Amino acid sequence: MAQILYLKASPRGERSHSLAVADTFLAAYQEVHPHDTLQALDLFQADLPAFDGLLVNAKYNILHGRPHPPEEAAAWRRVEELIARFMAADKYVLATPMWNFSIPYRLKQYLDIIVQPTYTFTYSPETGYQGLVTGRPMMIICARGGAYPEGTPAAAYDLQTPYLKLILQFIGFTDLRWLIIEPTLEQGPEAAQEKRRQAMARARELAREF
Ligand SMILES: Cc1cc2nc3c(=O)[nH]c(=O)nc-3n(C[C@H](O)[C@H](O)[C@H](O)COP(=O)(O)O)c2cc1C
Repeated sequence: MAQILYLKASPRGERSHSLAVADTFLAAYQEVHPHDTLQALDLFQADLPAFDGLLVNAKYNILHGRPHPPEEAAAWRRVEELIARFMAADKYVLATPMWNFSIPYRLKQYLDIIVQPTYTFTYSPETGYQGLVTGRPMMIICARGGAYPEGTPAAAYDLQTPYLKLILQFIGFTDLRWLIIEPTLEQGPEAAQEKRRQAMARARELAREF
């Protein structure tokens, strides 16, 4: 019985293309795997701590092998809870819009919280960096107002998929699966609905192999 963590990075509720397609993916997945458990984490609703001076010091103390002073230790426990919840999953589904050519700030904040030395990656001068989140797939569903096809000049503006690929591979993921819904704005609402329908059909196919 696998545990699925569904990370929701759009605040647009039912209007969101990425969430609608991810919901379709998960409904199809649950038909095939009715006993797997699903946990959703809405990144715009969740209590994510600001990654401020206290937590930055805590991170550096870990990097330098130093203990946390008490105030820092208390703040770090919330980081540990969020990392534990992330690490408890066997499979991941991420639904995210493109915002200003990259990812929404709440998803970046979440990544700043969970990407931590000794928890999700390690470093030693001998072996370099090693990711600790291994052997698990992630389905990444991206929605973008414009279109950024590979091999076109527009592709250079896509800092969403390359960044996610880099940071997720950095913490150990090797099985990243992508579904892109685009353009959701550029060609008007009817074209967007058609793109959503096409992506939902593809999501149902991909769910069977997840
Ligand atoms: C703050 C903000 C910034 C955005 N920046 C971009 C952008 O840089 N490029 C783009 O193609 N679309 C951009 N969009 C449009 C969204 O990517 C598009 O509406 C997408 O469908 C949102 O995903 P969702 O429908 O899952 O919420 C932006 C939207 C918002 C709200």
